[in-house]
Amino acid sequence: MRRKLLLGNWKMNKTPSQAIEFAKASKDLGKLARSNKVDMGVCVPYIDLVPVKKIIKNSLIVGAENCHYEDHGAFTGEVSIPMLKEIGINWVIIGHSERRTYDGETSEKCNKKILALLKNGMVPVYCCGESLETYNEGKTKEFVKEQIIAGFKDVAYEDASKVVIAYEPIWAIGTGKNASEEIAEDICKFIRTTIKSLYDVKVANKVRILYGGSVKPASVKGYLSQKDVDGALVGGASLEVESYKELLTSYID
Ligand code: 13P
Repeated sequence: MRRKLLLGNWKMNKTPSQAIEFAKASKDLGKLARSNKVDMGVCVPYIDLVPVKKIIKNSLIVGAENCHYEDHGAFTGEVSIPMLKEIGINWVIIGHSERRTYDGETSEKCNKKILALLKNGMVPVYCCGESLETYNEGKTKEFVKEQIIAGFKDVAYEDASKVVIAYEPIWAIGTGKNASEEIAEDICKFIRTTIKSLYDVKVANKVRILYGGSVKPASVKGYLSQKDVDGALVGGASLEVESYKELLTSYID
């Protein structure tokens, strides 16, 4: 049985003082999620990690939005996995479409990061998803399959199910135009089949696959009741404790 997972992605939002405000107000959220057997957390800007983790501790998952694949070295402006580990961060979003679009992140680079995170016993949340153009051309599956194959290159059998996959169609991110439950299920199921072909049915049944893109309290339950959708990667609705809590309660009620 795969445990449901709600993961927030703050993107480039919240100064440390705003992040602290959220963290202080989020105490009940963690309790509520745990008592309903839901894993829940937020991935936040680097600069917010230390203060947020200090307050939230293990009540919610606190993750980063990116990392470098090298342990240290001449990579100005980057943050390494050992740096994150030392402050108790174990989850990292990899390959978000905004990084792929604006920062030239490729699936090959994501693969290096995934391998480095797994080597360190951490959880990569690997994002995939197509543009509107690819969707309109009817090429979503071949596009996503390529991203999955490249991202999982050399990932060992025993590590594969530790990766969380997030399917986020770019056309549904921040647009309010979310993909239908049927589309989300169809592509998440397809991703699971791809994992099965790369590994086996055991790994495919264990790996968690999230949907992301304009997930709101009104739509969350519909997605999470799909057979192959194990949770959501949430942008806008995770920015305030109240709206994030509403997302959780909409699912569990
Ligand atoms: P929104 O929920 O704001 O559409 O963002 C989705 C997303 O990109 C999460 O990573």
